[in-house]
Amino acid sequence: MRIEPAPWVRGSLRVPGDKSISHRALLLAGLAAGRSYLGHCSDAADVAATRHLLEAVGVATFDRGPGQVGVLGRGRWRWLAPEGPIDCANSGSTMRMGAGALAGHAILAVLDGDGSLRQRPMARVATVLGPLGATVRCLGDGGRPPLEVCGRAPLAGDVTVRPPVASAQLKTAVLLAGVSASGPVTVEEPVATRDHTERILPLAGISCRVEAAAEGRPWRVTVAPGEPEPFGLTVPGDLSSAAAFRALGAMHPAAELRLEGVGLNPLRAGLLDVLGAMGARIAVELASEPAAGEPTGSVSVRSGPLVGTVVAGALVPRAIDELPLVAVLGTQAEGVTEIRDAAELRVKESDRIEAICAGLRAMGAEIEPSPDGLRVRGPVRLRGARVSARSDHRIAMALAVAAAVADGPTEIEGAESVAISYPGFFDALRAVCD
Ligand code: S3P
Repeated sequence: MRIEPAPWVRGSLRVPGDKSISHRALLLAGLAAGRSYLGHCSDAADVAATRHLLEAVGVATFDRGPGQVGVLGRGRWRWLAPEGPIDCANSGSTMRMGAGALAGHAILAVLDGDGSLRQRPMARVATVLGPLGATVRCLGDGGRPPLEVCGRAPLAGDVTVRPPVASAQLKTAVLLAGVSASGPVTVEEPVATRDHTERILPLAGISCRVEAAAEGRPWRVTVAPGEPEPFGLTVPGDLSSAAAFRALGAMHPAAELRLEGVGLNPLRAGLLDVLGAMGARIAVELASEPAAGEPTGSVSVRSGPLVGTVVAGALVPRAIDELPLVAVLGTQAEGVTEIRDAAELRVKESDRIEAICAGLRAMGAEIEPSPDGLRVRGPVRLRGARVSARSDHRIAMALAVAAAVADGPTEIEGAESVAISYPGFFDALRAVCD
């Protein structure tokens, strides 16, 4: 993909439905006996992988129009044993959260994926589902996929699970399994991660109690098991897809951009805080009605000077997928921008610390990786270069917005990976830059 420098960035944009919420809504719909309907469902390849998982266990999904998806759920405990390994493609969410949903069925399923997914850590899934009585084994070397899930119906209840890393995917795996348990299941996280599952479960009539973290006390979520009821919801615009445009609007010298109908979940919207700390000119308008239990609204952003900032601690899980964009923003900000406490970035679809540092360095950035983050000094004039997205959608989008503010054209190898989360990304980029 060749990206030319953008003369300006302007207009208004509506991004596709949120990928994280779409995965969760589909899996929960599969656990509800009857027809559920999703509006504005994500068109991402990752979400198609979750639909594929559902089909493999006898849950039919059908398209009713663009973004309109119906699910004919079988009910908890009633998924069918798949005929062979289920291909989760590139989707860690499908594998981890799908394992949780599968765990409450007395069936054996093997979850596999592409070369990137086969490199990702999965022993953590066994760690969190084991206490509920599911037998989960990593069939690859060193705790890697394929992942074998041998479920049980019902799972054990009255259990508290403490995930070994702050991960919303692990929390969700436990909560979806908890629906099929014989008593309440609690997850305790020292640092709060995105709470989309907690917000969706009540829409299916499942009670979910959240005790927010306080001084010395972790974030606790308790799900009460029950038969989920079919539901309907509209998925908000994907905050992480919108993030690339927020970053571009804040960095580009001639930008005025509005993003409509986008999710504003506080545990996911860390990039807004980062942009605020960098001095970006950003305005948020909250919509009166939530969607899928989530606050939504529009975000406007325009050009302005940026200063360096530090992203660390509790802010990291709230901005985890946007951290490559923070690195790009750092190249255009005055002073040092530093990311710490983000070692998880090394085990995403690529090693995102190495990938973004290599890409931006080729474009002339002063950027250094560290074991759990990176440090970048700005501002620098980026120059167009040949860079690799390492087949990672978030890196492809981050390098594309860097290319839009660079001098000269940039060639991004592996840019087609944007389809993993945002198939229309390059069309949207062209639309606001032309
Ligand atoms: C996700 C959580 C994050 C994020 C991933 C999607 C989710 O992963 O990086 O892209 O939908 O819950 P972890 O929970 O493993 O950090």
